[in-house]
Amino acid sequence: MSFCIAIDGPAASGKGTISRAVAARFGFEHLDTGLLYRAVGQLVLQGTEPLEAARALVAEDLRSDGLRTPEVAQAASRVAVIPEVRAVLLDFQRAFATRVGGAVLDGRDIGTVICPDAPVKLFVTASAEIRAERRFKELLAGGHDVTQEGVLDDVRARDARDAGRSDAPMVVATDAIVIDTSGMAIEDAVSAAVAAVDAARA
Ligand code: CDP
Repeated sequence: MSFCIAIDGPAASGKGTISRAVAARFGFEHLDTGLLYRAVGQLVLQGTEPLEAARALVAEDLRSDGLRTPEVAQAASRVAVIPEVRAVLLDFQRAFATRVGGAVLDGRDIGTVICPDAPVKLFVTASAEIRAERRFKELLAGGHDVTQEGVLDDVRARDARDAGRSDAPMVVATDAIVIDTSGMAIEDAVSAAVAAVDAARA
């Protein structure tokens, strides 16, 4: 039987960590849909046209080095405003969402566009300052040359682009449970997510 858990939210809100933990807890497969957009963004930075890059995407591109850089994140959010790019990536995400055995998808439009009928929808968020601090630490640990102010600017620019686009903007689905991780330990956020899934499965 298929069971889709939709987890949306802005950059560095904790949705990736929560998604991986929930998938492991319930034995579901996890798809980080941001990687699809990052992989297209990376191909565009290398000179490919956005639509051509989306059509040419193969699984190996999702394991490519450098997908987590700030430059690729910005490129991802620029290609993500293009409706034709989103349309090309839709079928793969929908097929993944209906896989037998259950699926957790995280992104920006999972609960609104990819799986509007998902039995569990979470919107994971936190203040821009806290998210920038988390992402700054991750990037520093990854050896990137960044400043906290620069990361905050990037996060805000991406939030504005993701929320402001006309096709599949980042919005809280009307039936989503909001988890604000600003003042929360990640274990507590995971527990809240697990409790929401348990309630939906009961
Ligand atoms: O990891 P982080 O939250 O910083 O970003 P991500 O989830 O890897 O997504 C990178 C970019 O891809 C986002 O800023 C969005 O522009 C785009 N994206 C999207 O439009 N729709 C999705 N379902 C997932 C990502």
